[in-house]
Amino acid sequence: MIVCVCHNVSDRAIRAAMDAGATSLSEIRAQLNVGACCGKCLPSAKAIVSECSEDAMPRFTAVRRELVAA
Ligand code: FES
Repeated sequence: MIVCVCHNVSDRAIRAAMDAGATSLSEIRAQLNVGACCGKCLPSAKAIVSECSEDAMPRFTAVRRELVAA
């Protein structure tokens, strides 16, 4: 699904950027230009970033436990 029509950015592109290490909407904006024109996409982009952050937290916690135990 296209999230940012002005810059042709999909939810997949945002999720891929988050998987590659982006951690905030600011980073997504800098990488993909989301919201750099009309800004109407920002609420949707923010929701996807939040969703990805919530999805990543259990993985992060599991990795952290492994590192602490090592
Ligand atoms: S829809 Fe994203 S800047 Fe216009």
